[in-house]
Amino acid sequence: MSPLGLDYKVQFPGPTGTNAVEAAMKLARKATGRTGIIAFTNGYHGMTAGSLAATGNTYHRQFPGGIWGNVRFMPFDGYFGPDTDTSAYLEKFLDDPSSGVDKPAVVLLETVQGEGGVNVASFAWLTRIEKLCRDRDILLIVDDIQAGCGRTGAHFTDAPDYGPTTA
Ligand SMILES: Cc1ncc(COP(=O)(O)O)c(C=O)c1O
Repeated sequence: MSPLGLDYKVQFPGPTGTNAVEAAMKLARKATGRTGIIAFTNGYHGMTAGSLAATGNTYHRQFPGGIWGNVRFMPFDGYFGPDTDTSAYLEKFLDDPSSGVDKPAVVLLETVQGEGGVNVASFAWLTRIEKLCRDRDILLIVDDIQAGCGRTGAHFTDAPDYGPTTA
């Protein structure tokens, strides 16, 4: 069944947001054979160990045993104000073999950051990040668990009416 007319291949249902992020990161690492993850300033991905490692907030990162994982943080869209294109910053780090940032398995982002303050990435920035990843054979995880998917844009506009969502 394909309720939204999308080309579904596999769906992993899960009980939490953080387990979806953990599964996506694990799958990306397995598929690429690389371990690095690029995450963004003010990003929030959940309270289990892997997701916390990709979460920016210092308070949340106070984790017994310490944060682990090969995660590098880059500035989200607008981090330096509207006149700085932070995707160019990421591009430079990815392409400079002396930047200290190895080619990652995956770039992990929220299209609309929720817990880090409502920071909306521009379509242009998202498109540039997507192209950066595609051109370099880096996977892209879009964590739209809190905002984004179904809450912005037209994604569910034409969805069939499933009836009331509350009893
Ligand atoms: C963007 C994002 N990812 C992941 C999570 C984690 O979801 P959960 O609390 O269901 O594990 C949240 C929760 O607020 C979130 O906002």
